[in-house]
Amino acid sequence: MPPAAVRRVACVGAGVIGGGWVAHFLARGYPVTAWDPAPDAEAKLRRLVDAAWPALTELGLAAGASRDNLTIASTLDAAVAEAEFVQESAPEDLELKQDLLARIDAATPPGVIVSSSTSGYGMTEMQERCATPHRLVVGHPFNPPYLIPLVEVVGGERTDPSAVRWAAEFFKVAGKSVIVMDREVPGFIANRLQEAIWREALHMVANGEATPAQIDASITEGPGLRWPMLGPCLTFHLAGGEGGMAHMLDHFGPSLKSPWTRLEAPELTDDLRERMVRGCEEAAEGRSIAELVAERDRALIAVLRALDGVRNGR
Ligand SMILES: NC(=O)c1ccc[n+]([C@@H]2O[C@H](COP(=O)([O-])OP(=O)(O)OC[C@H]3O[C@@H](n4cnc5c(N)ncnc54)[C@H](O)[C@@H]3O)[C@@H](O)[C@H]2O)c1
Repeated sequence: MPPAAVRRVACVGAGVIGGGWVAHFLARGYPVTAWDPAPDAEAKLRRLVDAAWPALTELGLAAGASRDNLTIASTLDAAVAEAEFVQESAPEDLELKQDLLARIDAATPPGVIVSSSTSGYGMTEMQERCATPHRLVVGHPFNPPYLIPLVEVVGGERTDPSAVRWAAEFFKVAGKSVIVMDREVPGFIANRLQEAIWREALHMVANGEATPAQIDASITEGPGLRWPMLGPCLTFHLAGGEGGMAHMLDHFGPSLKSPWTRLEAPELTDDLRERMVRGCEEAAEGRSIAELVAERDRALIAVLRALDGVRNGR
């Protein structure tokens, strides 16, 4: 089936990410069938979709998009039986994913592509127990998948390269921005970069060098403002002035060896956990998770619109 002909999407696992995928596909006009084994999963999923819908409506729904196009399946087999594309978003646990993907593979019609939201496992290890591993890919999204465009797509050793190409094309048709990776890298591209920052942040909190609020402000009031438009490479290209990246490297190259980073992860002690949790509560200044999500979504829409304006004016 050509990617543009897909109508029926199945989402397996409907927590933060699976629910976000459901909201995204519904807003793009797809009928979605979801399955999640948790007893309270349906209520949580509907709350998540309801919370996302105002933002999605403001951004513009596809023709025919409706929350009524969501079906909750009572079994995994029923969820994928008629699927034309499957997105798996179960907990990040290798044993669980290996077992679940084998069950999905057994129940999904032949030839239908199955994608996993994993944050870091390689498809090679996840597809080990599948009978038809050639159709499994990683489609790694970012939270919330209904607003952040990026999906990193990569196959495993037993994935057919045509499945990777098909999935990339499907995600594009479905409104995502796609990076196709031709080899497996732990954490893919973006999580590898995020993880470097995250480790440094934990070191600074563990050593009393900065609070969670200071760390967040250092990004949101600083380099984070450039990142929606310029990634780290073009940001530093401009840091070199008229000499660009060449001057930047000649000027600051020696400082690459300065002991600025401590990229080994710190021990996640009870004390560090407590400082992070309390520090984030302080940084939230009394706002609930639901309030923070609504505020984040409004801000993301504003950023996406601003970027559209700048890019269209190029
Ligand atoms: N949270 C993020 O920012 C983020 C970003 C990108 C990718 N991911 C990845 O997405 C996946 C899901 O993460 P999440 O943050 O949504 O977790 P989550 O805990 O919010 O949701 C996981 C859901 O899976 C369900 N579940 C449990 N066992 C299951 C099973 N056997 N089969 C199907 N569903 C099952 C749970 O009931 C729960 O609703 C993980 O692989 C994670 O690494 C997460």
